[in-house]
Amino acid sequence: MCGIVGYTGTQAAAPVLLSGLSKLEYRGYDSAGIAVLNEGKIGLAKVKGKIANLMELTDSGKNVPGFAGIGHTRWATHGAPTDVNAHPHISSDGRFAIVHNGIIENFAVLRDELTAKGYEFLSDTDTEVVAHLIEMYYTGNFKAAVMKAVSRLEGSYALGIVCTDEPETVFAVREKSPLILGAGIGENFFASDVTALVAYTKNAIYLEDGEFAEVKPDGITVYDAAGREITKPISRITWDIEAAEKGGYDHFMLKEIMEQPRAVQATIDPRIKNGRIHLDDFEMDSAEFKNINKIVITACGSASYAGQAGRYAIEKLCRIPVTVELASELRYADPLIDEHTLLIVLSQSGETADTIAAMKECKERGARVLSIVNVVGSTIARLSDDTLYTWAGPEIAVATTKGYTTQLILLYLFAIYAADKLGRIDSAEYDRLLSEIRKIPNLLQRTIDMNHDVPALAKKYYTHNDVYFIGRNTDYAACMEGALKLKEISYVHAEAYAAGELKHGTIALIETGTPVVALCLNEALAEKTMSNIIEVKARGAEVIALAFKGNTEIIKKADDIVYIPRTEPLFADVLAVLPLQLFAYYVAKERGCDIDKPKNLAKSVTVE
Ligand code: AGP
Repeated sequence: MCGIVGYTGTQAAAPVLLSGLSKLEYRGYDSAGIAVLNEGKIGLAKVKGKIANLMELTDSGKNVPGFAGIGHTRWATHGAPTDVNAHPHISSDGRFAIVHNGIIENFAVLRDELTAKGYEFLSDTDTEVVAHLIEMYYTGNFKAAVMKAVSRLEGSYALGIVCTDEPETVFAVREKSPLILGAGIGENFFASDVTALVAYTKNAIYLEDGEFAEVKPDGITVYDAAGREITKPISRITWDIEAAEKGGYDHFMLKEIMEQPRAVQATIDPRIKNGRIHLDDFEMDSAEFKNINKIVITACGSASYAGQAGRYAIEKLCRIPVTVELASELRYADPLIDEHTLLIVLSQSGETADTIAAMKECKERGARVLSIVNVVGSTIARLSDDTLYTWAGPEIAVATTKGYTTQLILLYLFAIYAADKLGRIDSAEYDRLLSEIRKIPNLLQRTIDMNHDVPALAKKYYTHNDVYFIGRNTDYAACMEGALKLKEISYVHAEAYAAGELKHGTIALIETGTPVVALCLNEALAEKTMSNIIEVKARGAEVIALAFKGNTEIIKKADDIVYIPRTEPLFADVLAVLPLQLFAYYVAKERGCDIDKPKNLAKSVTVE
């Protein structure tokens, strides 16, 4: 939920830190700060608000000299977003500065202990206890003091620490929050996410929980939790910095919506060879699949809605019971999971705390874990038995778009793969379904090309504060994601409702002019959905229908129509979601919202 960076080398540290923070701002942006070592002192600059405020405060880093430092962009957990609560936090003796991503769960007990010992706290944050703990344990050995202080912590933390007695060293510590080291030439880095490193180096070292690193200009030393030096592999970052830039679009979100044809293509291509599906290293033969009596999909937010959409295809084709469980619920549900369960974990960031916790709970109960994630080397990827990467490239906008559609296309591929292994589909059906999948990238582009009038639609409806999305079966799943997109970037209250369920209460909320988005792609249920449209129209609703091109019936009933190209109904959601993304984007734009950094949100929810 926050982003941290660290640098040590021959460049002025402050501009490097600020540049890295600007790439991490999507992780949290209610305050920011840097601390740079200079002539035996810590130069500190921190301020409420976005990185731009920090840039202005430090004159783009010019007035914070020095060659080693740390930086932080915050999504507040403990303590309101204020200058004082912004990171970095300083020890009482001014010797240490620290930045933190995560939550120190036992901070109150530690704060009481430190207060009793005379330490004075300036902030309301949990993080500040760590600065004072290190000071308390410091007897001249920076590493020993860090290790001792960290041994007292409970919770999740990625820490960056500097000490005035070690002018070239920045310390990095990882426990349940992502932290990646960047190995340069005569300079070294760390950051919460590779997007902050890739402008300077493509050589990444992924720290595991419990590990920490002593980072100096001439080298990086990594230690395990016991303080033993360990050797870590250097991974090569496979994409360039422009992939993490806006590329001429007004917002990252619009760029990433438009990137979906390519992202889905890149996700499909390595998985089809000679007309057959190959799911990377994931292999399950028919005996193994027959040993599975249920599939549980777990995730949070949009990823859970991708699971809802993919569930229909898996159940329809494989005839195995599939449930989609919110990770924040599953982890506490004493779930009926065992060695006969296949757990599919969906996550764009691969760092969502609730999803990690649910996954660990299910692993302990014997489930086999297949994860579908976008960030290479992320925690969820590393804890899974098998991982399928969505080759979407970096997703910067807080609201996921290509993350969702690439997760969904992998679920469809998995469904066909599993149905084939289970002998549920013959070779003709296998080939037909695969042929439909291969058309999706082009159909996504055609969906974009068919929907240039969505901005006008948004202009017609953007003043409304309540919008309902209704659909049945696969359409209902797409409604969930459409409603969330609208909510999280335009702050319009939106609800997804099973169309058949509306009359059991919620229809009481429909009044004259209420916008209702009705998805009518599941044509087997078209008549039923049509009657729901009539029901809401009878109460004054304005209906925006989403249908396959050529559906003329719907024109008679809806006030506005959005068309998408025809595809296999089981796969319709991967196309249906695109106009819903565009609708949310343009409504938010009309409402003047901060589309890439919506209020109260962060890209990666690494706290519970
Ligand atoms: C999606 O637009 C939201 N930003 C949010 O619901 C997100 O999908 C959820 O937090 C899960 O994130 P993950 O995919 O990185 O695990």
